[in-house]
Amino acid sequence: MNNNELWENVDHYFEEKLLPEDKILNQTLENNQLAGLPQIDVAPLQGKLLYLLTKMKSARQVLEIGTLGGYSSIWFARAVTQNGKVVTLEANQNHAEVARENIENAGFKQTVQVLVGNALDTLPTLENAGESFDVIFIDADKQNNPKYLEWALRLANEGALLIADNVVRNGEVIDQRSEDERIQGLREFTNMLENEERIESTAIQTVGSKGYDGFVIGIVK
Ligand code: SAH
Ligand code: DHB
Ligand code: MG
Repeated sequence: MNNNELWENVDHYFEEKLLPEDKILNQTLENNQLAGLPQIDVAPLQGKLLYLLTKMKSARQVLEIGTLGGYSSIWFARAVTQNGKVVTLEANQNHAEVARENIENAGFKQTVQVLVGNALDTLPTLENAGESFDVIFIDADKQNNPKYLEWALRLANEGALLIADNVVRNGEVIDQRSEDERIQGLREFTNMLENEERIESTAIQTVGSKGYDGFVIGIVK
């Protein structure tokens, strides 16, 4: 068995033990596949991690940058406090439509707001509307992570939880000569964290059914 098979088998072992059969989320993933969306949603156990972290924070308002088909949005919607809400930003009109279907099917039409457009255009509208957030999940185009971090600082409530997905990318993050602008975006994001005294953060490498990657997790002062 190679490493990837082993990681996948261990993911399935814990999924069977810790994740009850979930019709809604299974339908969401099926719907995404039928609609031809890329299968880059967070892994099921990671979705539950997002849910648990959001609950630990007793978060009322969650901001997600990068919706895809709404798989992670549904995990967040399940975790927010009563009358809580999730604002999720998606540039791709088709992804957003599929996400809206999945979110409605999950019973969260009132909880989740999908804003269509480049996140760099929709983020200012949130600030103008006076919105602020307890949890901010960065999971879109990695080359813009530095800008998303700036926005996260502007939109964070005191003590907000910051989570960024895909910060390891098979270890490519340590390739300082990488010509991939996404990798350079991730490296610049890490440099900003190094120098930003408003955030205390850590990074966790992950393996599993989605391969080798990782999260940054932090708290905004
Ligand atoms: N959070 C999702 C996965 C998101 S995949 C989940 O775990 O279920 C990344 C998404 O970000 C894609 O749907 C892509 O279309 C979107 N995206 C890429 N660039 C973007 C941008 N500039 N603004 C908003 N969304 C963007
Ligand atoms: C990609 C994006 C993601 O958010 C992810 O979790 C995995 C892969 C990608 O663009 O390749
Ligand atoms: Mg991701």
